[in-house]
Amino acid sequence: MNIIVMGPPGAGKGTQAERLVKEFSLVHISTGDMFRSAIKEGTEMGRKAKEYMDKGALVPDEIVVGIVKERLSKPDCAGGVLLDGFPRTIQQAEALDEVLQDLNITINAVVSVDVEEDELLNRLTGRRVCRNCGTTYHIKFNPPKVRNICDHCGGELYQRDDDTVETVKERLKVYKKQTMPIIDYYQRKGLFLSVDGARSIDDVFADISDHLEKIKGRG
Ligand code: AP5
Ligand code: MG
Repeated sequence: MNIIVMGPPGAGKGTQAERLVKEFSLVHISTGDMFRSAIKEGTEMGRKAKEYMDKGALVPDEIVVGIVKERLSKPDCAGGVLLDGFPRTIQQAEALDEVLQDLNITINAVVSVDVEEDELLNRLTGRRVCRNCGTTYHIKFNPPKVRNICDHCGGELYQRDDDTVETVKERLKVYKKQTMPIIDYYQRKGLFLSVDGARSIDDVFADISDHLEKIKGRG
């Protein structure tokens, strides 16, 4: 099974993806995480991506499509993938279709996690991420057992550079203008499902899992 998880910044794409990839044995492909790794490694691509990310803007399509194409071509993706935060523009969605056709991969579902703007701001400004393994927490909604320490690996938690109120507002604008048009693109293909993301992490997960189980049953 191959799925796309979309939704505005802070809706819980990464949180749900962490669980879904375990439940359905999928490879997690998050373009945001790939850029953050490239920044950490100090690569040229990371340096370029950071210029856009720090402003809350999208990284140019040709860079994003290139890294996703390379990743999808690796053998481990044959068992199923979860795309988190990609595609984010119509151009990316069209480019993805071409890549998938070449690789003989079919998308089975596009799940959008939807949450109101005020709540997104609360979620993003309280988010903490493990510097070592990338696990995501929230200081109020999903706190680690020990303050600022990752439950899984003991790594230090940090706040993302783009999680300031100002940058989050810009990311939300960009989402509405550049990413929301892909909803229609996938609705036309009959793949789109919106889930109410303003519930507990467990409830949202149960909803998405039910939907995916039904699709698996059909396949
Ligand atoms: P990316 O890293 O993808 O960021 P994003 O889309 O803005 O989304 P986030 O990762 O911020 O939020 P999320 O939905 O994953 O929420 P999370 O689960 O962490 O992209 C970053 C940047 O990279 C972009 O701005 C762009 O510059 C660039 N980029 C990436 N992909 C690109 C592309 N395809 N094209 C061009 N540029 C690209 O949850 C958020 C918080 O809420 C956490 O604290 C969590 O614990 C909490 N939480 C989650 N679920 C719940 C719940 N149900 N109840 C309460 N709290 C919850
Ligand atoms: Mg994320």
